Amino acid sequence: MTAPDLTWTPILPPADDFDEPALSLIARYVATANRVTQHFWGDNRADSTVEEIVASQRHTEDEIGVRWLVSEAGHDVGRIIAAINREEGASVAYVSAWVVPEARGRGIGRALAERAEHEAMQLGPTSLQAWADHRVPVGGETSIAPKSGHGAIAEDAPARLLASMGYELEQIERVSELDVEAARASLETHRADALTHAGDAYEVRSWQGATPPELLDSMAALHARMATDIPRAGLEVDDERWDAARLQRLEGEWEGAHQTPLQAIALHRGSGEAVAFTILLLPEPGRPAFQEDTLVHAEHRGHRLGMLVKAENLLQLGRLHPDRTRIITWNAEENRPMLRVNEALGFVAIGAEGGWQKRVGAAEPG
Ligand SMILES: CC(C)(COP(=O)(O)OP(=O)(O)OC[C@H]1O[C@@H](n2cnc3c(N)ncnc32)[C@H](O)[C@@H]1OP(=O)(O)O)[C@@H](O)C(=O)NCCC(=O)NCCS
Repeated sequence: MTAPDLTWTPILPPADDFDEPALSLIARYVATANRVTQHFWGDNRADSTVEEIVASQRHTEDEIGVRWLVSEAGHDVGRIIAAINREEGASVAYVSAWVVPEARGRGIGRALAERAEHEAMQLGPTSLQAWADHRVPVGGETSIAPKSGHGAIAEDAPARLLASMGYELEQIERVSELDVEAARASLETHRADALTHAGDAYEVRSWQGATPPELLDSMAALHARMATDIPRAGLEVDDERWDAARLQRLEGEWEGAHQTPLQAIALHRGSGEAVAFTILLLPEPGRPAFQEDTLVHAEHRGHRLGMLVKAENLLQLGRLHPDRTRIITWNAEENRPMLRVNEALGFVAIGAEGGWQKRVGAAEPG
């Protein structure tokens, strides 16, 4: 196979809202990425938008992300990303390489993945990680089990490519979908049961948009725990330092991306602290909502607070956005407590995402 002759164009943030050359390049980048996701999912559920990319590019305090659009003979054929947290000592860099369906099978994917890896290495990681959508194995198809021991994926093109580059499949996340209409009938019961179980020590609150000022500190503390308190199998994880300002930057990025957050929390009455939270993120109308982070503080588990905040937030969704009929979420296959809540609410599995890792050497001893 002759090496593909590719043109690499960096995607830079627009100087302002009138920077037409930068914005039209981002529009090409988005169109290329969406050809990949629409081919995989068969609809627009995993699309991205120009606003989302620009908002992410402008949110540079907490993450460095570099992107390239790749073309061949004047046609856009793919895109790559390399990213790392800005935390001091961050060790995990993320790589992603996507090729449009019509250009596959000619060596472009490998060239993109190698370039993404090369760019990621400039960011100084000790662990390279890639998250890829995979087919769920059907019938007697060859499947791959992750090192976590939970779930399986088909040995498809991304799996073969990543394995051939030395990545190991550490973990599988189940992708699930909720039919909101069907779930609605039991939400009040789920909320009431959970509240009875939780008892007087907790109360539930919910809102749309930015976190109220009095809750910023305890919500930031909960966000920090998302890095350490959820199952990550053998994937290396960077600690994240969160404060009110970082949470406000994240909420600012959502606003810039035209994504509306719906949040629900459990408040511990004794301390006045938020001890459980969940977030639904609504992109533009016509797309599903995304069930983003959910976390119950380790010291407050076992009181059905996970179900409480999720049922509360779904009721809020019904009140404020009755037109949203689908929700998509991702959960580690080994995360039984979270899957149990989601299954009880009516989420059903629709796919699998693989968490791949390649260790690239330890940092020099100081
Ligand atoms: C994975 C992907 C990048 C491959 O792109 P591509 O241009 O077809 O890749 P290449 O032609 O360079 O092939 C690279 C390797 O992919 C695997 N591969 C490609 N096509 C395959 C197929 N039809 N069946 C099984 N494996 C296949 C092989 O291991 C191949 O190596 P080989 O040619 O030495 O056997 C592409 O399918 C894609 O964009 N998928 C969606 C996004 C994604 O999952 N990206 C990877 C994770 S970051």
